Amino acid sequence: MKFFLDTANLAQIREACEMGVLDGVTTNPSLMAKENIRGEEACRRHYVEICNLVKGDVSAEVIATDFDGMVREGTELAALHPQIVVKLPCTAEGIRAVKYFAQRSVRTNCTLVFSVGQALLAAKAGATYVSPFVGRLDDISEDGIGLVAHIVRVYRTYGFRTQVLAASIRHTHHIIQCLDAGADVATCPLSAIKGLLKHPLTDSGLAQFLADHARVNG
Ligand code: E4P
Repeated sequence: MKFFLDTANLAQIREACEMGVLDGVTTNPSLMAKENIRGEEACRRHYVEICNLVKGDVSAEVIATDFDGMVREGTELAALHPQIVVKLPCTAEGIRAVKYFAQRSVRTNCTLVFSVGQALLAAKAGATYVSPFVGRLDDISEDGIGLVAHIVRVYRTYGFRTQVLAASIRHTHHIIQCLDAGADVATCPLSAIKGLLKHPLTDSGLAQFLADHARVNG
């Protein structure tokens, strides 16, 4: 399973790159706004900066909601850098745009997916990635990881090549559940990735090793 970082924060992307476990980045308009990136030009420069930091796919989301606007914006985003994946919402217009880009070999990430039916349409249109939102489903007492597992099952049964990119990951246990569900990618906050490292026996074991070494070596 690949790890993408779900952020537009350059410091966090650098930190994850230095850990050596980062395979890509996903952004969305809310994450860009959180970093206070204003205006089309600044956004585009920021996407290029992200691409220059990370080796791997970088999802950049369109703002337009109509087909022509999505095609225009997505084409410009894709031209920014070979690592850019055009992120499109799972709406009727978005699915049409996924198909348009698939026919032109432009990679897409179909986002805001909350049902297996939406994931089916994204795959049939030729999306490179589909993004089921785990945490937001959990928030309304639905089973986010269950949806990831369901989509993986359907894609494998029917041979769809669209990769399942589990999004809206909120904590470390979600990452482990994504592994069990067979997700191709999990896009996570840095804190959830770092949480994988934590174990009290690692901490106490290391403290003991260092204490024993110091006792004999002074
Ligand atoms: C990913 O591509 C999504 O934009 C993101 O994971 C949404 O996460 P949130 O539900 O924590 O905002």
